[in-house]
Amino acid sequence: MRGFLIIAFLIVVSGPATGSEKPGIPRGPAPVETQKAHAVFRVTPRIYSGAQPGGDAAFHELARMGVRTLVSVDGARPDPVAAQRHGLRYVHLPIGYDGIATQRVAQLVKAIAELPTPLYVHCHHGQHRGPAAVAVMAMAREGWSSEQAMAWMRQAGTSTNYPGLYGVVRQFRCPDPEQVEAAGELPETTVVPARVMAMVVIDVHWSRLRAWQRRSWKPVPGDVTTTLHQDALQLWESLHELGRQEATQRLSADYRRRHAVSEERAKALLDETANPGPPSVQRLEGLVGSLGESCTACHREHRD
Ligand code: HEC
Repeated sequence: MRGFLIIAFLIVVSGPATGSEKPGIPRGPAPVETQKAHAVFRVTPRIYSGAQPGGDAAFHELARMGVRTLVSVDGARPDPVAAQRHGLRYVHLPIGYDGIATQRVAQLVKAIAELPTPLYVHCHHGQHRGPAAVAVMAMAREGWSSEQAMAWMRQAGTSTNYPGLYGVVRQFRCPDPEQVEAAGELPETTVVPARVMAMVVIDVHWSRLRAWQRRSWKPVPGDVTTTLHQDALQLWESLHELGRQEATQRLSADYRRRHAVSEERAKALLDETANPGPPSVQRLEGLVGSLGESCTACHREHRD
């Protein structure tokens, strides 16, 4: 009986929402429940936003939802061959966290204007760069104001620590048709600078450590192949490798100092996981926290 009352109550309070689905009355961006793709929103009937699809199962799910084209704005190289198996075309238009260059804006507008829709626009986590690219497309082709676009970015969780991304949207000027025409090809993959690639790899290992943290430092049930120590080692090695590169050595003293701090903290984390016996959860939490702060501190100064 109680369950029935709750359902009845939900029907009553959700009444006005269904009214807004009437044809001609646009609905705002809404989260979509998915199994394999993550952080997915249906932003407009022609645009989805979300995290990077992790392989065949996610491509399959997106294709089933009706998605026709994938647009990645992430630094990581996408997998157009795997996407093609599910009838999906890939376009790779990487952007940074500090804003979107004019030509990239024109390419994003060209993508929504010319490619089969719905598009699925993604960065890595689907929180910052992807939603900013979506905002640009929706302002150019879906009649959004910049207020609507910024409200969408807040809804998607885009951090206000990225003033460059919000700035593009606040001061958006739609490229004219000639600029869109001249925007050039929409490539399946784009070569990104070595440092961006290195950061993408660092971020993959960092994401794995954050997953250990979310599991209270316990392994994935049934998975005996990867250990916390191995993942900590990969993270430290990827930072160490980037630090050794000549291109990094040539950067400013402040940059190199910040890099060294990050690397030291990754090393301390690695050492903690190397001790025989279970690591101290309290120490791990502290070490991961301070490592994460060193990433953010450098990004604030040298990236965003
Ligand atoms: C010493 C400075 C510094 C440190 C430390 C640092 N980064 Fe970065 N990171 C950068 C810079 C600079 C860029 C932008 C590269 C570019 O666009 O040229 C970047 C870019 C990135 C990107 C975006 C890649 C893309 O797709 O464009 C990710 C993700 C990232 N860093 C993750 C991390 C993580 C995780 C850590 C810590 C474990 C970290 N970074 C530590 C300087 C740093």
